[in-house]
Amino acid sequence: MAKIIAILNGKGGVGKTTSTINIATAIQRKGFSVAVVDTDPQGSISNWFDEEKCAFDLTEAASEKEVYQVRKSLKSYDYVIIDGAAAISAISSAAVMVSDLVVIPVTPSPLDFAACGAILAVIEARQDLQPVEARFLITKKIPHSKMLAVLKDSIEDTGVPAFRTSISQRQAYVKVMLDGSTVFDTDDGAAKGEIDVLTNEILEITA
Ligand SMILES: Nc1ncnc2c1ncn2[C@@H]1O[C@H](COP(=O)(O)OP(=O)(O)O)[C@@H](O)[C@H]1O
Ligand SMILES: [Mg+2]
Repeated sequence: MAKIIAILNGKGGVGKTTSTINIATAIQRKGFSVAVVDTDPQGSISNWFDEEKCAFDLTEAASEKEVYQVRKSLKSYDYVIIDGAAAISAISSAAVMVSDLVVIPVTPSPLDFAACGAILAVIEARQDLQPVEARFLITKKIPHSKMLAVLKDSIEDTGVPAFRTSISQRQAYVKVMLDGSTVFDTDDGAAKGEIDVLTNEILEITA
């Protein structure tokens, strides 16, 4: 049975797709087979995807039903990562239902944080049926900024924990979206390091 991770937040631009491709590659590099499911109608992963370079397999899911089918159709993989769309819809609810872990990327911007109420409500609804692991992932972090402290307080108030590791604001993440590469193709050791440590946390939670 594949472990399924959904990367969801109804806000666009918070780093869902960036996290998906880098984490998927990191998991694959640790020796697991990985499939990524693109649920974004804008298909940002599909635009980035270069089959020859890419470490993982890519599929698309355009409906709630296709997301539910993932559990069966991709069961031969060790890990399946669902990249969410910029809206909390029936597709995202289905992604929460099929997942072992929901990752909610958030940036240190107060407006971004306000937008994750919708996904938290879906997670809460599932907790009543069958509990699911959920973690906030701080992305585009600017160390020591005042907004970072505010974000950490807001996260704490939700009762949903955050990963110990966060993703900093780095040029390397922007650059790799242009050409089908990942941070592992760059010489940014700090970026590679944080993705690697974050991936270890994910593997621990889903083990
Ligand atoms: N850690 C980061 N540092 C700098 N830029 C980032 C980072 N994460 C994402 N970005 C940039 O922010 C934009 C939105 O990221 P993306 O992953 O597409 O978000 P989403 O999938 O949530 O809409 C992209 O231009 C991406 O390159
Ligand atoms: Mg995206």
